Amino acid sequence: MKLDKSNVDLTDWQPLITQAKKAALNAYAPYSEFHVGAAVIDSNNEIFSGCNVENASYGLTVCAERNCLSFAVNQQSSTIKALLVYTQQEKLTPPCGACRQVISEFLSQDALVASANHLDQLQVWTVAQLLPDAFTPQLLS
Ligand code: THU
Repeated sequence: MKLDKSNVDLTDWQPLITQAKKAALNAYAPYSEFHVGAAVIDSNNEIFSGCNVENASYGLTVCAERNCLSFAVNQQSSTIKALLVYTQQEKLTPPCGACRQVISEFLSQDALVASANHLDQLQVWTVAQLLPDAFTPQLLS
């Protein structure tokens, strides 16, 4: 699978869509009932996924994207090439602001982030488009 800007059709994203869709089934979202799954692929073509996990203390909710990235770190993933978020929503779900910052920690500025839904719709951004001029680890070195 080649996931770069010259190759962004649905077929290329299908393995990530499948895993993110599966992860969304595990979403713990009793408050919002907004079920989200996310999946990343690393440079070894390994895929890791995660779902949103809400909390009775609403602010402690963690989005699917951040749970997915934490899981990838925990599994000693190699460099993450792309991330996809999946929801069964007619309007595609983009990553929230907090997730954009965390995505910028682990994906390069030109890496791709996509959103997909059950209607086979797909929107693709670069990390830089989602969070321009990000505060990244490189700025600390
Ligand atoms: N949520 C995500 O998991 N990812 C997103 O990109 C948007 C929002 C979750 C957080 C909360 O559990 C629910 O969706 C509604 O905001």
